[in-house]
Amino acid sequence: MRYHIITYGCQMNEHDSENIAGLLEAMGYEHVDDPYKADVTVINTCSVRDNADKRFFGTLGQFKKVKKNRPDFVLCVCGCMPQQPRVVEEINKRFSWVDIVFGTQNIAEFPELLEKRLKTGLRVRAIIDNNPDISEADMKPVRMHRHKALVNITYGCNNFCTYCIVPYTRGREKSRMMSDVCDEVRRLAADGVVEVMLLGQNVDSYRDAAGHRFADLIKAVNEIDGIERIRFMTSHPKDISEEMIDCFRTCDKLCHNIHLPVQSGSDSILKRMNRHYDRASYLETVDKLRKAAPDITISTDVIVGFPGETDEDFEQTLDIARRVEYDSAFTFIYSPREGTPAAKFTDKVPDDVCHERFDRLVDVMNEISLKKNREYKGKVCEVIAEGVSRNDDTVISGRTDGFKLVNFTSERSPEQLMGRKVMVEITETKTFSLEGREVL
Ligand code: SAH
Ligand code: SF4
Ligand code: F3S
Repeated sequence: MRYHIITYGCQMNEHDSENIAGLLEAMGYEHVDDPYKADVTVINTCSVRDNADKRFFGTLGQFKKVKKNRPDFVLCVCGCMPQQPRVVEEINKRFSWVDIVFGTQNIAEFPELLEKRLKTGLRVRAIIDNNPDISEADMKPVRMHRHKALVNITYGCNNFCTYCIVPYTRGREKSRMMSDVCDEVRRLAADGVVEVMLLGQNVDSYRDAAGHRFADLIKAVNEIDGIERIRFMTSHPKDISEEMIDCFRTCDKLCHNIHLPVQSGSDSILKRMNRHYDRASYLETVDKLRKAAPDITISTDVIVGFPGETDEDFEQTLDIARRVEYDSAFTFIYSPREGTPAAKFTDKVPDDVCHERFDRLVDVMNEISLKKNREYKGKVCEVIAEGVSRNDDTVISGRTDGFKLVNFTSERSPEQLMGRKVMVEITETKTFSLEGREVL
């Protein structure tokens, strides 16, 4: 029996898919590359913007024929879309060929749901909102990467930024016990993992039942043998603590890199977004980070065209981008999400204005990225090798401590390099990557 998983969402979604793959493999299923040839296909959805919604419904349509030709084929839908009752209704009404629908907090039950479907032939639906005991004790994720791993530290989100669907699809924020996280990281290290990415919608609000905060967790993970690099995402500018910032000084494995979503550079828009910081305090945080780690790289997320955004507000966003000088940025056009407060705001920004602002912002961000990357020319960077270029198997790719993508050549074979630290001299710099060669 063979399975395939299609994943649309963020790293948390990707990690859910790794866990689902683990559950299926424990049931004896084997992975297959083609979703149309599998016996069980799982679509792990995202709902953060409208285009994610559209892609999902398009994909569902394509499975109608598969199901008609092979009635035993099992189609499953999970992730953030079915956490919204309107989506489940729509699936039931328009896409009757979907066998199993389960929620972001029902993953551990998936094997039972699948058994039930296989035994009874009935449609199975299991979606709960606030599971008090999400446990990863029985999870044996099938990792996408051999040498690096995603590790959940919190689930859900309590921040309710007015544009965002996540608090509705992932439920209330819960922190895993620090001891559970550390046990998992130790197991990963024993399995050859050298780099961990600690995941939460807002890692800075981590607080476990024993009172440990995020800085405590970083310090604990920093002590685990075998782990060479620690990353985390995402930080919320309102909650990042002095203790956390100090970890950049004291924890040698903590990468000098942070994703610090700014969303907007305008105080009035930040207020309407319910972000609980202003541009001055954001810039102050950036200063503190740079003082703690002068070589820190900073990336961000920005939304343009939030309801009520004026030209002046947008100029403030361009201004903050230029002041911070982001190494990279993810830029989005605001997408109304049903059920969120902002979807009811009436002062929408016209599409053409959104697109024009978006293009201007991307130009500014790219110009800055290129400028920042040029600073690396001629330098020697420590890179952990992660993969081989798809087009050219003599080119290895990896990341610097600051998360810069580096494509490089080496006299050694890829097998000798994977998961290892390699010293690379940077010979060429581009907007989204660096190029170089290994120096011995
Ligand atoms: N918890 C993280 C990630 C949230 S989703 C955080 O707080 O940063 C990732 C990004 O998607 C957000 O940072 C935001 O920039 C963007 N986003 C979320 N909702 C959106 C919406 N309705 N329209 C456009 N972009 C959105
Ligand atoms: Fe969404 Fe805000 Fe929570 Fe991030 S912090 S997931 S943007 S509500
Ligand atoms: Fe998307 Fe859900 Fe992640 S909405 S961004 S998959 S938390």
